[in-house]
Amino acid sequence: MSEGFLGTKLTMNLGERSYDIILRRGALQNLYQFANLGRRVAVVTDSGVPALYAQQVADQCKDAVIITVPQGEASKSLKTLQSVLEQMLAFGLGRGDLVVAVGGGVVGDLAGFAAAVYMRGIDFINCPTTTLSMIDSSIGGKTAVDLGDTKNIVGAFWQPKLVIVDPETLATLPRRHFVNGLAEAIKAGLLADPELFAIFEKGDVDAEIDTIIYRCLRFKKKIVEQDETEHGVRKALNFGHTIGHGIEAVKGIKGRRTNGLYHGECVALGMLPMIQSNALRKRVRAIYRNLGLPIRTSYDKEKVLAEMLHDKKAQGGQITVIRVPALGCWQADTLPIEALRTLLGMEEADA
Ligand SMILES: NC(=O)c1ccc[n+]([C@@H]2O[C@H](COP(=O)([O-])OP(=O)(O)OC[C@H]3O[C@@H](n4cnc5c(N)ncnc54)[C@H](O)[C@@H]3O)[C@@H](O)[C@H]2O)c1
Ligand SMILES: [Zn+2]
Repeated sequence: MSEGFLGTKLTMNLGERSYDIILRRGALQNLYQFANLGRRVAVVTDSGVPALYAQQVADQCKDAVIITVPQGEASKSLKTLQSVLEQMLAFGLGRGDLVVAVGGGVVGDLAGFAAAVYMRGIDFINCPTTTLSMIDSSIGGKTAVDLGDTKNIVGAFWQPKLVIVDPETLATLPRRHFVNGLAEAIKAGLLADPELFAIFEKGDVDAEIDTIIYRCLRFKKKIVEQDETEHGVRKALNFGHTIGHGIEAVKGIKGRRTNGLYHGECVALGMLPMIQSNALRKRVRAIYRNLGLPIRTSYDKEKVLAEMLHDKKAQGGQITVIRVPALGCWQADTLPIEALRTLLGMEEADA
């Protein structure tokens, strides 16, 4: 627990789509203070999230149903979406009613998309319970499901009305998931926040987790406010994700493949070749080693490259990537495929 961190409120300023992000220990039990729960509420969670959290939310509502989907990425499917929508309809959810997600990025992406399409869009509140979802996926309004092995291909921008980040819920999160989400925090530090990076170098991650979440939210908020639908500066968030997605496609947990690398682990690996300073890359590896993030993995370079070229960011034999020349700054570079092949090769030689 972070010493002395009493919680805070950030506001995502997006005109009429603006919303508050409450970061406070115990906030989940006090959701009623921040939201109108005097209507029908569908609380969506998954089977891996301790049932207590969704129950705590439901208990504060006048009239709630808890919808539990199976845990895991496979629930981000049209089939599960249909089942969630059917349960919302059966419960009699109307246009003025509410969907609350209680869980990680899987639940948030699925429930957010359900809220986006049900009756052409109803209110949505996100209560993230993993580091990854607290730091990254719960804010910014990207919602989606997968189609077969293709991730996030059916979705919508649908901003929540409120985000409740209660770090108490992390107490039950398995360590590997806890660390996985921190890769996105290291990303934020490398791109724009040397002080955040310093927390990782000092190794005070558990003690400083609330501060880490706060600094990540502040960073992402600023980016999303400038570029809500990713036409410009929001692309910076793709740092580590071009190679990361390639590795994820080949070695990640996806579709029916249930043993493999998690998203954050792939991003961690994907960031390394995009750091242009040898000294900084060394420091990042030391952090990974301390945390238990992978510092190398064997993969078929050509397969990863092929997956990267499938990626929507590849056009005409060139690909635009985000690179970090020095701690706290970044640039977008358009590289020919051959240069990427060299970068992947460098990664192998370097590790
Ligand atoms: N929308 C976005 O902007 C965005 C950004 C990044 C990632 N994502 C998506 O997020 C998803 C990954 O999210 P994730 O890493 O949170 O994984 P996840 O939602 O699958 O959660 C990880 C596991 O932890 C369990 N869990 C969740 N909270 C828990 C808690 N407090 N205690 C114990 N167990 C708990 C879950 O049941 C699950 O088994 C991916 O589908 C990815 O595409 C979306
Ligand atoms: Zn990511």
